Amino acid sequence: SVCVSVFQWSLVVHEFNKYFYFLLQEIKALLALRGKPFIPDEKFKEKSPFWCLDGLSEEDIRSIMARSVCAKSAFELWGHGQTHSELRASLLSYQSENMSPFMHKDSTYRINIYTFNKTLEFTDRIKRIDALDYLPFEGTVNLKSPQHIFCLLEDYGTDPNNIPEHPNSVYFGRWLADGQRELIHSHSVKNRHFIGNTSMDAGLSFIMANHAKVKENDLVFDPFVGTGSLLVACSHFGAYVCGTDIDYNTIHGRGRSSRKNQKWRGPDENIKANLRQYGTEKTFLDVMVSDSSKSVWREAALFDAIITDPPYGIRESTRRTGSHKDITKPPDESHIPVSQAYHLSDIFTDLLNFSAHHLVMGGRLVYWLPVYRPEYCEEMVPLNPCFQLISNCEQTLSSHTSRRLITMEKIKEPEELDSLTHLADPRFSPYQGHNAFREKYFSGLNKRRGKEDNKLDFNDVQSKNASR
Ligand SMILES: C[S@@+](CC[C@H](N)C(=O)[O-])C[C@H]1O[C@@H](n2cnc3c(N)ncnc32)[C@H](O)[C@@H]1O
Repeated sequence: SVCVSVFQWSLVVHEFNKYFYFLLQEIKALLALRGKPFIPDEKFKEKSPFWCLDGLSEEDIRSIMARSVCAKSAFELWGHGQTHSELRASLLSYQSENMSPFMHKDSTYRINIYTFNKTLEFTDRIKRIDALDYLPFEGTVNLKSPQHIFCLLEDYGTDPNNIPEHPNSVYFGRWLADGQRELIHSHSVKNRHFIGNTSMDAGLSFIMANHAKVKENDLVFDPFVGTGSLLVACSHFGAYVCGTDIDYNTIHGRGRSSRKNQKWRGPDENIKANLRQYGTEKTFLDVMVSDSSKSVWREAALFDAIITDPPYGIRESTRRTGSHKDITKPPDESHIPVSQAYHLSDIFTDLLNFSAHHLVMGGRLVYWLPVYRPEYCEEMVPLNPCFQLISNCEQTLSSHTSRRLITMEKIKEPEELDSLTHLADPRFSPYQGHNAFREKYFSGLNKRRGKEDNKLDFNDVQSKNASR
């Protein structure tokens, strides 16, 4: 786990779980929301469970931790060292006027011990606490509900097969806040009213909302809304939310259920009911059936953030409206397979173009990009001259596959572009990556496509559902 603290120094602590790869960007985005830079100490290592950050106030830390699902806890750092005697020297030089408001005789307190990569016996914990007797605690110990909690933290490295006898680093600080891990459980899709085969994990949905810097009263749009998991996360942070999906059944909460032992979706199994379940229904604007490749929005910068999980064709097909006759085949078919290649690359190019036109300046686009790892290189990330790439975090799915959480920020209006310059830049040419990815992931879909092409027309999909 990692600790972060600010003041003179803050200590942020995290744990190594599947969300770890998103922590750095989450903390940076949440700091950016407060207009604060990320200033780590000179020994900073992303893979350390303890991060010391400079220049943050108690309020900054509390507001970051009120949103972070990746960070575990944060402390006001009073001292640290490589050994306990270095810690002692460091603590004794900490200004007493910073300590005294929390140690006076009318106060109550408790000291916790936190060890990373080692479990201490109870007696060793007591010894550690007793050894802190050089600190001027004057208050009364209260284990149940103290006014102040202090913590001694020991770092035994990250290799469980090589645990040192003595810690590599020790820290002592005043506990400020824990992160929002409980959101992962309270919003788990397991207990959600309306779910589908591709409903996004609750933790990742909150991380996306954080990477997008979603805040109260923002207007957030998901163009591939599915069952609305990303809307749930954004509405939790006070944003007004809306979305579109090509699937009539999903938008209207009809059709086959994704739950075991339930054939059809029940009444009120829809996105609005999901928000109601979490008490955020008042921020639900609406969702509608629409093909994201054909924008239905008036030409204006409408949204503060666009966050989405586009279809990869693994559990649901990638499709759009219009007959396949509309698709213009590239001249060299041996180079770019026509059917799937066109679809996947179009999804991302369309998403970036749409976002360039419909995000406010400084607004963020956050989305998942599927990746075939042996073929991946950074050039595969689609770019657009209206956007700056903020972050690109990998979530490994298997030895060969992963998806990348891409965060981009709008820095230019499309009208401001010098078309000659940006067209000459190969990084902004239409996206043509993923050949191997397509081959492997979409071979099944390609086989089915012959049979399914006649179902690609949006009107067909809609009328079929309507007649059900
Ligand atoms: C990966 S799922 C999104 C899941 C969603 N985040 C959730 O939590 O339920 C992708 C969604 O894109 C929709 N979709 C596919 N092609 C589309 C298109 N051309 N326009 C709009 N939506 C589309 C699918 O129906 C599917 O619901």
